[in-house]
Amino acid sequence: HRHLLSIADLKPWEIRFLLDEAEHWARANRGNARKHDDRLTGMTQINAFFENSTRTLLSFEIAGKRLGADVVNMHAAQSSVKKGETLIDTAMTLNAMAADVIVIRHASSGAVALIADKVDCPVLNAGDGWHQHPTQALLDALTIRRRKGSFEGLIVAICGDVLHSRVARSNMLCLAALGAQVRAVAPPTLMPPEVEALGATPFHRMDEGLEGADVVMMLRLQNERMDGAFIPSPREYHMLYGLTPERLGIAKSDALVMHPGPMNRGVEISSVVADDPNRSAITEQVEMGVAIRMACLDVLTRGARGVEGWQ
Ligand code: CP
Repeated sequence: HRHLLSIADLKPWEIRFLLDEAEHWARANRGNARKHDDRLTGMTQINAFFENSTRTLLSFEIAGKRLGADVVNMHAAQSSVKKGETLIDTAMTLNAMAADVIVIRHASSGAVALIADKVDCPVLNAGDGWHQHPTQALLDALTIRRRKGSFEGLIVAICGDVLHSRVARSNMLCLAALGAQVRAVAPPTLMPPEVEALGATPFHRMDEGLEGADVVMMLRLQNERMDGAFIPSPREYHMLYGLTPERLGIAKSDALVMHPGPMNRGVEISSVVADDPNRSAITEQVEMGVAIRMACLDVLTRGARGVEGWQ
């Protein structure tokens, strides 16, 4: 069986295939009171979240339920992890319950791959440390494709705390693979050294990074990951790197505003921009999250269901 651990594991045609599959689910979900498909009936999906989540956990749960799976959630805070159980022992426990697909979020980069190695079913990475958040990048790509049509030559500025962002790392790889011109815009202290290897061009000044952008993707300042590093005050950060209506004016006049959430309003993004119905795609991103996760759960369990897939 195949896992979904990193965008780096996907060929460009596989990314497009997942986007096409998700487009089907996006249309099926919109305006339909009854959204069940039930192709995963009888299968067990475990969502094991060792880190907090609103969007990713709920959309994986909704996606699994819409496909008919029996979905159970394990929250680390209420689990035996708190009693000192190791990650591997937890993984073996989930495996012994005969899960057919496991979705994992963990604060440590590489922890999800470690579990994937030990279990007998597909594992989907719902975010591991600073490393990857592949379904977020896929839902962002689907949102962009729906609004802009295609990726070829599209200028996407990913702005803010790039250093601590698994969302940025997955998005740089994904959007570059699809043919976009990707920019990473961050202060020098929040710019990881590997952005060019991930397919992006680094910019330190917000105004330069936004010039001519078709898509402006804002990132949260991840204070919980700063680890003693220099943290600018929220006011200072907003002055230099916050997306205000004036700053957005530097991008193209029809530039799309995105944010993976959770937002810190008044820090990386002003409420006027975040709530602008003509420019902001933030709630559409959440909507596409369910569609993308339905596509990923369906495609990754096709082998076990004896259905032809991409594997
Ligand atoms: N975008 C995202 O991963 O949000 P959550 O942390 O709420 O899942």
